[in-house]
Amino acid sequence: MNNTQNQKVLILNFGGQYDQLIARRVRECGVYCEVHPYTMTAEEIKAFAPIGMIFTGGPDSVYAQNSCHPDEAIFSLGIPVLGICYGCQLLAYHLGGIVTSAAEAEAESETHETSREYGKTVTYFDTENPLFVGTPETSVTWMSHGDYMKQVPAGFTLCAHSDKCPNVAISDGKRRFYGVQFHPEVNHTQYGREILHNFLYRICGAVGDWSMGNYKNLAIEQIREKVGTERVLLALSGGVDSSVCAALLSEAIGEQLTCVFVDHGLMRMNEGDQVEAVFSKRAAHFIRVNAEERFLSKLAGVEEPEKKRKIIGEEFIRVFEAESKKIGHVAFLAQGTIYPDVIESGKGKAATIKSHHNVGGLPSVVDFREIIEPLRLLFKDEVRQLGRELGLPEELVMRQPFPGPGLAIRIIGEVTKEKLSILRRADAIMREEIAEAGLSGTMNQYFAALTNMRSVGVMGDGRTYDWAVALRSVTTDDFMTADWTRIPYEVLDRISTRIVNEVPNVNRVLYDITSKPPATVEFE
Ligand code: XMP
Repeated sequence: MNNTQNQKVLILNFGGQYDQLIARRVRECGVYCEVHPYTMTAEEIKAFAPIGMIFTGGPDSVYAQNSCHPDEAIFSLGIPVLGICYGCQLLAYHLGGIVTSAAEAEAESETHETSREYGKTVTYFDTENPLFVGTPETSVTWMSHGDYMKQVPAGFTLCAHSDKCPNVAISDGKRRFYGVQFHPEVNHTQYGREILHNFLYRICGAVGDWSMGNYKNLAIEQIREKVGTERVLLALSGGVDSSVCAALLSEAIGEQLTCVFVDHGLMRMNEGDQVEAVFSKRAAHFIRVNAEERFLSKLAGVEEPEKKRKIIGEEFIRVFEAESKKIGHVAFLAQGTIYPDVIESGKGKAATIKSHHNVGGLPSVVDFREIIEPLRLLFKDEVRQLGRELGLPEELVMRQPFPGPGLAIRIIGEVTKEKLSILRRADAIMREEIAEAGLSGTMNQYFAALTNMRSVGVMGDGRTYDWAVALRSVTTDDFMTADWTRIPYEVLDRISTRIVNEVPNVNRVLYDITSKPPATVEFE
């Protein structure tokens, strides 16, 4: 190991919502980082020995009572700092500048113009400054601040401004302290990645020695240390997250891991067998529970979507409970929770549009001591990258999101074995044709659904009265809003022709051209 192998960046969290997004951007730049609370002392930071520190934003005002402040001694450690938003105001405040609230600034201003900035803002950079080298002189940044740096501290110069605000970024090249009022980590800031890259490479001297391979090794070490000689139980769904979690744990603790795969019979074509093929080899103890009959009998006659979800969620827990009872006490229950799940559950939802079933109800029914979530800090694409690093097959790693209740919520109305079989075949054809056309990577989720509609058709010389299959494909960043994908007509044509020719009892194929909102991604 050479001596630059251990470069680390410290992200000090002052309560902002983007701490893990900053971490992810730093990792994208090939630099290892950790997020710690702002209460970390100068002594602890010295021992951690980061090549640079990033102060996150936060909801406070630097003058407010009980606002978050760092240990003042950290400014004497000789470590470069990048302060973002509130982090920038902290730099100004602690190093002798003056920060005022927006209200005060407005009252003092001759024009009474507001100094608050929110949203996309045209910003002018001093491109000679190391932080902005390589960016254009004018571009768009994303701001979200009320407070305002009225006077910058001695030793600092201004290196970016906007039409409203002269102090958008400050720097003290000698001490290597930099502050920006905008958020370089969010996508709306056009050159945000370049600015963070500049901070890491030009200012902190990063060499880019971090990779997902290192992450894997580190995660394995940490799992081994935590688990010791105890046993771990994992509910494997076959989705990307639980599969990567299983592969990671299996590499870390081998024999001590048991994976339980509840096959509810609502998966896509061949999916259950694929999961079994991969994990029966990889996991020391792999149990597949074929529970199709059990799920279908519970779903018989049920048409209401939320009722279906509830039944599937509950049945899943019952099956898993029965299996885990056979295994007995385990010290740890592993879950493939990833960072976006953490944010979502933290925020809470205003209204339940659909009750998304994961394995949320599991913990109370399994006899275990603690939960481990080794993917908790990773974003989806990082999880996929880790999966590749662990040698999982590409079709598993790149699997598109698939709802927990599976095909049951893509069949409108009652779920039957016959309908499942029709839908599986239609869906497989759609996926084959999308792959064949080289379009798989260009859309975020695509599938066939079975409408509850039968209509008149003609085949040969005869009249038919058969099912209509609907095709759906969406393009989205976060699945909260989505646009329908403009699949080329030729591809839609091939899919439709093949479905009506190859799938019995289907005589009509529809393409859904609604965005979300007002529709949702799934049909139920
Ligand atoms: P909607 O239909 O709400 O879907 O626009 C947004 C995303 O969530 C997935 N989805 C689910 N995932 N259990 C899940 O685990 C569910 O009940 C469920 N319903 C929707 C959907 O596939 C899409 O990716």
